[in-house]
Amino acid sequence: MKYEINSLAVYEFGDRKNPSIIFVHGFPFDHTMWKEQINELQKDHHLVVYDIRGLGESYVGDGQYTMEAYVSDLFSVMEGMKLNKPVLCGLSMGGYISLRAVEVGEDKFSGLILLDTKSQSDDDNGKLVRSNSINKINIEGLASFAESFVSNLFAEENKEELIDVYNDTIKMAQSHNPLGVKGALIAMLSRTDTTKNLEKIMIPTLVMGGAFDKLTPPTVMREMAEKIKDSEYASVPRAGHMAPLENPSFVNDMIRGFIKRRIVK
Ligand code: MLT
Repeated sequence: MKYEINSLAVYEFGDRKNPSIIFVHGFPFDHTMWKEQINELQKDHHLVVYDIRGLGESYVGDGQYTMEAYVSDLFSVMEGMKLNKPVLCGLSMGGYISLRAVEVGEDKFSGLILLDTKSQSDDDNGKLVRSNSINKINIEGLASFAESFVSNLFAEENKEELIDVYNDTIKMAQSHNPLGVKGALIAMLSRTDTTKNLEKIMIPTLVMGGAFDKLTPPTVMREMAEKIKDSEYASVPRAGHMAPLENPSFVNDMIRGFIKRRIVK
């Protein structure tokens, strides 16, 4: 079922009687990057997925976004869908949004799943890379930027073994309004650092990342997990930065097991 909340495209799957999970996608994607989780986990979970402002079918507006606006969008989706303490699951940019959402409103969630993400904000080099990305989109167009960006996200072997998934992911990244993609780059570039809050997180947390993730490698993910009191860490085999698409059965088993053991009372 599809809804429009606060000009955002929101989708609901599964039975509300089951534990709720709200998913926040990565950059520069949309809610369809969770398709393998939707297919499998809706059997015994209540799932809410949405397109972040400026991406997918959500409102683009003037393309001037901040991480704070993304967080208030997340809260408005939760309110609009009347979600009572869902598990929050974010990948990469979705993880940045999740970490900040938990920093300002941990009591709204029963658990946290952090996939291929990090708490550190962009350093100077990271800011320059974002700035170059905006230039590249302006000069060469979104299609070219999206193709080279996605080529860094998959484990090398998966670009051949999962060629259809890889090509579909490039298409997903190319499908947006360039204004929304550039707005997301600025929002990421200007986000705050959430590292200091990690040790304050009290809700059960699952930290998981691809064994071959080049953007947020296993060492970064493990260090983040070690700072969160009630956390578990898993390295996803045969996966890079797009673990939910590259090894969905492993990721789904981990999510299902975590919720069964740690969330459902
Ligand atoms: C993502 O997957 O959301 C992006 O790679 C995050 C980033 O560029 O920092």
